[in-house]
Amino acid sequence: MTQTEDKTTSSTGDTPLVPMEKIVSLSKRRGFVFPNSEIYGGVSGIYDFGPLGVEMRNNIRRYWWWSMVQINDNVVGIEGNIITHPRVWEASGHVENFVDQLVECKNCKRRFRVDQLPAENLEQNKCPVCGGELGEPRLFNLMMETYIGVVEGERMKTYLRGEACQNIYLDYENVLKSSRMQIPFGICQIGKAFRNEVTPGNFLFRQREFEQWDLQFFVHPSEMEKWFDYWKERRFEWYKGIINHKDRLRLRPHDPDELAHYAKKAFDIEYRTVLGWQEWEGIHWRQDWDLSRHSLYSGHDLSYTDPETKERYIPWIVETSGGVDRTFLNLLLDAYEEEPPSGKDKEGRTVLRLHPWFAPVKVAVLPLQKNKEELVTTAQDIHNRLKRLMVSQYDDVANIGRRYRRQDEIGTPFCVTVDFQTLEDQTVTVRERDGMSQIRLQINELPAYLLERVTWNYS
Ligand code: GAP
Repeated sequence: MTQTEDKTTSSTGDTPLVPMEKIVSLSKRRGFVFPNSEIYGGVSGIYDFGPLGVEMRNNIRRYWWWSMVQINDNVVGIEGNIITHPRVWEASGHVENFVDQLVECKNCKRRFRVDQLPAENLEQNKCPVCGGELGEPRLFNLMMETYIGVVEGERMKTYLRGEACQNIYLDYENVLKSSRMQIPFGICQIGKAFRNEVTPGNFLFRQREFEQWDLQFFVHPSEMEKWFDYWKERRFEWYKGIINHKDRLRLRPHDPDELAHYAKKAFDIEYRTVLGWQEWEGIHWRQDWDLSRHSLYSGHDLSYTDPETKERYIPWIVETSGGVDRTFLNLLLDAYEEEPPSGKDKEGRTVLRLHPWFAPVKVAVLPLQKNKEELVTTAQDIHNRLKRLMVSQYDDVANIGRRYRRQDEIGTPFCVTVDFQTLEDQTVTVRERDGMSQIRLQINELPAYLLERVTWNYS
């Protein structure tokens, strides 16, 4: 399947692929994502995250950090700045090579990236939307410029980082010296990147400001193949572990003509949505490109001396580079489902089958009735205990069925209901989101029961 193919049903005949508009609408209505500067008409390719969005993003970031940094003894983390010395981007090759080719339709004036045009439109020089003639391809550099300093004429032009990972190469030697790491080892970072994308769009999929997570793993050249395969497989399994539709994930090797300027070899971990198969994370064989170039451009030798053999060499690098925003979007697309009415739910419901780890709200505490003071105070007490441990919501507005549906729609994995039996025996109903099954638990058993199910490092 081509990257631009638009399918609305899954080829395996399982649940249909979710239209993007459903996610855009849910995101705005329930406070996941808002258009940036909306009152001024918005800015294309730039978004803000609302109250639920920020919780979910933090959960996604924390899980990545835990599984990449915290549990790997040979990986550490840094947090570099968005602005660096401008020479960094000359050395990295971005000033020269970080370009997209763009064509404009002479008839409808729509713009397309040449590398995303279907082959037949490219061959026939024909607009894929209106069939009009396409103009000559033009080159656009994606780097966003900015200036340091206040005095006109003395200001230094630099760039907002076009890929977050450059800080890792700049800090590599300091990390080596301060953390006593030895090769093979890795450095991780989560941070913002900026690109003047020529065709931003499809909601969070292609933005101008977005967040990346990177691992740069430094190895001896003779071990490159081994570590490249290791991280490729591990990252693939990582993504497989967080989605429901495992058949929509694949690994695809890059053709030589689509390799980025820094990569000798690459695989994309791709996920299939209504946009077709699209990159979720890139696994790049960066070799010695970055450390050699920074050594050359800075005049500072970044080679490594093996403490035992005393061999001196420029380490080679395996990169795994994914997007926080793309993960956020793919998880919503993967989790969203509209269930028709059934025996269990007569009205039908919209449910986000998010992994409990990522759900923005972990538990909702609901008194069966609002006008019964004892029910309300007991539910509030439970909520006040739980909110210290996880994100908990107290809700007493509308009937219990409506409140369950409100929570299903934002992916809350558990609802705790306080009813009249609670007042007699201190038990509550715990309703689980996906199967809508219910059990009764003692109030004092709740924290351990819920924590075990919503936290990954619970032990
Ligand atoms: N350091 C390597 C690098 O930046 P990339 O394939 O250009 O590689 C890595 O980007 C990841 O960043 C992508 O797999 C994607 O998840 C995310 N990404 C890239 N451009 C993006 C954009 N314009 N909007 C949202 N996410 C983007």
